[in-house]
Amino acid sequence: MTHLESLALRFTHTPHKTELWILDQTVLPLKEDWILLDTVHQTIAAIKALKVRGAPLIGVVAALSLGQSAVKGSTLKQLQDEAHALYSARPTAVNLMLCMNRMIAGIQSKKTPEALLGTAIDIYNEDVQLCEDIANNGTALIQDGDNILTHCNTGGLATAGIGTALGVIRKSRQQGKTIHVYVDETRPLLQGARLTTWELKKLDIPYTLVTDNMAGHLMQLNKVQKIIVGCDRIAANGDFANKIGTYALAVLAQYHTIPFYVAGPYTTMDWHCADGNQIPIEQRNASEVSGVKGVFGQILWAAPDSPVYNPAFDVTPAELVTRWILNCGVFTRVDFDQGSVRQRIPCHI
Ligand code: MRU
Repeated sequence: MTHLESLALRFTHTPHKTELWILDQTVLPLKEDWILLDTVHQTIAAIKALKVRGAPLIGVVAALSLGQSAVKGSTLKQLQDEAHALYSARPTAVNLMLCMNRMIAGIQSKKTPEALLGTAIDIYNEDVQLCEDIANNGTALIQDGDNILTHCNTGGLATAGIGTALGVIRKSRQQGKTIHVYVDETRPLLQGARLTTWELKKLDIPYTLVTDNMAGHLMQLNKVQKIIVGCDRIAANGDFANKIGTYALAVLAQYHTIPFYVAGPYTTMDWHCADGNQIPIEQRNASEVSGVKGVFGQILWAAPDSPVYNPAFDVTPAELVTRWILNCGVFTRVDFDQGSVRQRIPCHI
């Protein structure tokens, strides 16, 4: 029997049943609803709707869903089609593509269903370890007394483990450092306000929620010592895509000479993207900006049929990043320019 359990995912595999459950992140923190994903079709819908989200976790869930499909008897042709459909469920986070490529390689080499599921379980376990390594590498950058600003959600809800940026915060706190977190609400889908506050509260880490447009004011008042964010795709030159609003924080950080750190696993590196201009940016539905869809239904606050621009991510240029905290070390821009990051991370997609 295999049982995997993280903050947002539960997976059980026995000779009699294979079940994949996710915590519905669209209704947190008001409701803690677990959803059973029986088919790849359901998994794709859940990924698109952000019921499951975060660059590492969508890759892990997609792999487990495909593994489940294999042990439930799908043919190699069906698995191949399902893998391709999962691959394009969301376009920006490269982790999903990496995980699908690993699974597709297994399908093409005609691995047994159990072996394919084994690859997915390896992907889950690796992600747990990658989070630990990122956190261990990042804590050296956090000082006792720091007020740390973060954006979006990068914790246990976004990974199989303790998270990336939030993992660094969590580990620093475990080491006994007194820290306080400013949580950006993260418009339009409020991953900061809904998810990061929920996690920090559970972890008993002191935090204050602010709206995104308060970040500059906080920096001007010297209330922020560090900024740490996650990432969805890092280009070969160190430019990276992350939740919309990250770029504005990086510009503000430079003006106020505040260290700006980005944390992520090697599975977020894309050596095929020479720079950030080549990273595809997901465009989402207008209704996310013109109103809100919550547990009480859809509320519209903009004038009906207002034109809307809703990119889910933006790109932060490498020149605004103080350090990249990866699972294999902490890097500077010089490390990217001189190729030492590339030496540590092979080309994988
Ligand atoms: O649209 P989301 O909620 O999936 O966006 C998530 C982010 O932008 C995170 O910062 C990123 O995936 C890193 S999560 C460890």
